[in-house]
Amino acid sequence: MNSDQQVISVESVHMEYSTPGGIKKVLSDISFDLPKGSFASIVGPSGVGKTTLLRLLTGLMTPTSGAIKFRGSIVTTPPKGLSVVLQDYTRSLMPWLTVEKNIALPLRKSGMSKKQIAEAIEVVLEEVGLSGNQKNYPWQLSGGMQQRVAIARAIVMKPELLIMDEPFASVDAQTRFDLEDLVLKVRDDFKITTVMVTHDIDEAVYLSDFVIVLYGTPAKVKEIIKVDLPFPRNQIATRGSKKFSDLRTKIYGQVRGLQ
Ligand SMILES: Nc1ncnc2c1ncn2[C@@H]1O[C@H](COP(=O)(O)OP(=O)(O)O)[C@@H](O)[C@H]1O
Ligand SMILES: [Mg+2]
Repeated sequence: MNSDQQVISVESVHMEYSTPGGIKKVLSDISFDLPKGSFASIVGPSGVGKTTLLRLLTGLMTPTSGAIKFRGSIVTTPPKGLSVVLQDYTRSLMPWLTVEKNIALPLRKSGMSKKQIAEAIEVVLEEVGLSGNQKNYPWQLSGGMQQRVAIARAIVMKPELLIMDEPFASVDAQTRFDLEDLVLKVRDDFKITTVMVTHDIDEAVYLSDFVIVLYGTPAKVKEIIKVDLPFPRNQIATRGSKKFSDLRTKIYGQVRGLQ
């Protein structure tokens, strides 16, 4: 497919850090495309380079060689139309601002009227199951609710690309399942192209259209695995299916370097 039909194209990306100990090669010859509306997860062992790859996708850093393209143009700074959700909601939400003011942050320069902003906030709060929480402060909410606010803020501009780095790693297991199901609902309602890093292989399979497995030092794409599980997905039937278990077994083997 032509690269301008893709939301993101990663083309032969190499990445090195210069450290006091010398050059550290982290990524080697990474290539993949993200078609519009798709959901991809990046998995791999700790320290393999997942966050590095995400930082390159956001345009916060540029690769040592190769290119990252957003709708056909090379990314050198964070592009318009990109939203990011980080692992640690306690650092991403402003504790001195109410929920509505936190969500309004990306809309400040949008030219929208106060009324339009209030309406947009109402829509996204409803989407994430937090209607009526406009006037609360983040510290009055549970961790899972705070991460819902972070997701609401990320989708309020209707971004073309959503990037999430371990978005559910700081919450308990039950909340994590609830947030995963929220992400499935958001992807269905908003159709935002999404890239998520997770160390949780089951979660990657449960949510994604494809899973990009990074392996080695420097990291290469071991395989891009298509997840052809049917929609709607649910925690019991999807995770209990043979196809799900075959996919997770395959990806586990690859992340551990057994395959
Ligand atoms: N800014 C940096 N400078 C030097 N080395 C870095 C920097 N950021 C990450 N690294 C190193 O690059 C490798 C990959 O890190 P990272 O992308 O955070 O991996 P992951 O997210 O998969 O755990 C690690 O060895 C890490 O120590
Ligand atoms: Mg990381």
